Formats: sequence, structure tokens, C-alpha cells
Amino acid sequence: MQGKKVSESKTIMTEMVMPNDTNPMGNLMGGNLMKWMDIVAAICAGRHCQSQVVTVSVDHVSFQKPIMKGDVVTLEAVVTRAFNTSVEIFVEVFACDMKGGNPRRCNHAYLTFVGLDDVSGKPKIVPPVIPLSREESDQYEDAARRRELRLILSGKMKAKDATELRTLLEVND
Ligand SMILES: CC(C)(COP(=O)(O)OP(=O)(O)OC[C@H]1O[C@@H](n2cnc3c(N)ncnc32)[C@H](O)[C@@H]1OP(=O)(O)O)[C@@H](O)C(=O)NCCC(=O)NCCS
Repeated sequence: MQGKKVSESKTIMTEMVMPNDTNPMGNLMGGNLMKWMDIVAAICAGRHCQSQVVTVSVDHVSFQKPIMKGDVVTLEAVVTRAFNTSVEIFVEVFACDMKGGNPRRCNHAYLTFVGLDDVSGKPKIVPPVIPLSREESDQYEDAARRRELRLILSGKMKAKDATELRTLLEVND
């Protein structure tokens, strides 16, 4: 299957924090931000896979900086690597005020999606990713270790079968 460049599926989504999106302190509620992250990542994954996709896992999400009512939130999603039927998507979240003031990077996360066959609705083979820049290559390499870690944590892989993680731990010994 022909590979696809990261730039072919890069997705940018911009939202404004409305009163309905906030918690009682007037900050963007975490659950609403996670919803936007899931949507931008799903669009990116769908563009890469050229099919319907479903979220199969979301890695650790931490909320480093509050986002206030009226702020403009920009979410950027890129594919880091495709495996067999799944793709890993990296999402970064930035916020600023309406005039572009107080720009800040608020959080990031890795999400994994599975591409589904249009007819059967079952997982299907997805196109490989072609990393071009140094950053894309680093993300591509590291994705194999992140995949093993999340499969172990979700009980889908035994720790003893994790070849990529073992290499990492041996290097750091
Ligand atoms: C996603 C789903 C189709 C996978 O079906 P499945 O029978 O578990 O299929 P598999 O075990 O073959 O896994 C499919 C892929 O998901 C990956 N995967 C499964 N569980 C995972 C997890 N917890 N974290 C990361 N990847 C996971 C597998 O490694 C495999 O990827 P690969 O083919 O690239 O190696 C199925 O679990 C499902 O429908 N889940 C619900 C999805 C959903 O409703 N999401 C929220 C709404 S969009």
C-alpha cells in the first residue's frame, strides 16, 4: 500500500470558548477540551486512512494551563505512525485571547484510531506514514514504544513480548 506524508492529513481546528464550554470558575472544562481533541484527531486519522475511524485509546492528558472563557483555542493534529490497522495521532493545543495576546501551549496527547472497512465495518489495513523531517522521524521511531506501552497497560500485550520497550530500557541502563 502506498505511503502518505504527514502533511497530507495534518488537521487544524479553531474554537472559541463559549460560556457553555466552561466550568463554574469560567475555565474551559476538561471534558470539552478532550472532545475537541478527539474530533480533530479523528479527522486527521480519517484523512490518513481514507476511511471511517474509531478511537481505540487516548494516552495520558494533563491540563497544564487554564483556558478562559472567550479564549481562542487552536488544536493541531498530525499522524505520527501507522501500524497495521491503527494509526497514532499527536494533538497539540494552543490558546490565546481574541487579539492573539497571551499565546500559550496548553497541552498535548497521543490518540490511537483504528481504520474501518466501509463494507464490513471491521479493522482494515491502513496506509504507512512517510516521515520527512527530523521531528517527524523522531515521532515515528518513538511511536513504536508508545504503542507497546499502551498495549501492555490495556492488557493487550504481555510485557515480556515488548521488544521496542526492552531496547529502550537496555539503552538507559
Ligand atoms: C477498535 C476496535 C474496532 C478494535 O477491534 P478489535 O477486535 O479489538 O481489533 P484488534 O484487536 O485487531 O485491534 C485492532 C487494532 O487496534 C489496536 N488496539 C487495540 N486495543 C488498543 C489499545 N487499547 N490501545 C492502542 N491500540 C489498540 C491493535 O493493536 C490493532 O492495531 P494494529 O492492527 O495496528 O496492530 C474495537 O475495539 C471497537 O470497536 N472499539 C470501540 C471503538 C469506539 O467505540 N470508540 C469510541 C467512539 S469513536
